[in-house]
Amino acid sequence: MKKILIIPVFALFAITPSLSFGQTTKKKTTKTAKTTSPAKAAVATAADIAEGKALLAKSDCMACHTLDTKLVGPAYKNVAVKYPDNAESYDQLAGKIINGGAGVWGQIPMSPHSSLSVSDAKKMVKYILSLH
Ligand code: HEC
Repeated sequence: MKKILIIPVFALFAITPSLSFGQTTKKKTTKTAKTTSPAKAAVATAADIAEGKALLAKSDCMACHTLDTKLVGPAYKNVAVKYPDNAESYDQLAGKIINGGAGVWGQIPMSPHSSLSVSDAKKMVKYILSLH
């Protein structure tokens, strides 16, 4: 009598973990898909990048920066390697361009650009971070 009872109980335990495992993997996939879409939406458009490039050429940026060689400030290509191309970097670096500052690439400070709008500074950052 005891043996007959043990077998079905064991069978139930064997099936249950595989069922619940199947459900968790399904949930995880949907979660990943949801989190990637807002990040994609934040990535720069071709128009933003082109405008950023033009704004940068009009400003004093190239007096201290070049695309691929360190001058007074870091090469833009090295900035593009250091920061991910996302909304958080646009905010952070636009703030740095407007307010100036030192300490990330060395002790020489970048001069502030307080007349730049946040939106223009972000376009410049989008251009710089597109230079991988
Ligand atoms: C007077 C020289 C100078 C000018 C002009 C200048 N920069 Fe810089 N820039 C620097 C220096 C020096 C650094 C490194 C600062 C540091 O180490 O924190 C830097 C850093 C940066 C960084 C990286 C910031 C970080 O925190 O990693 C970006 C992006 C940048 N500059 C963009 C610009 C743009 C865009 C302009 C024009 C609007 C500009 N810079 C004008 C000297 C300059």
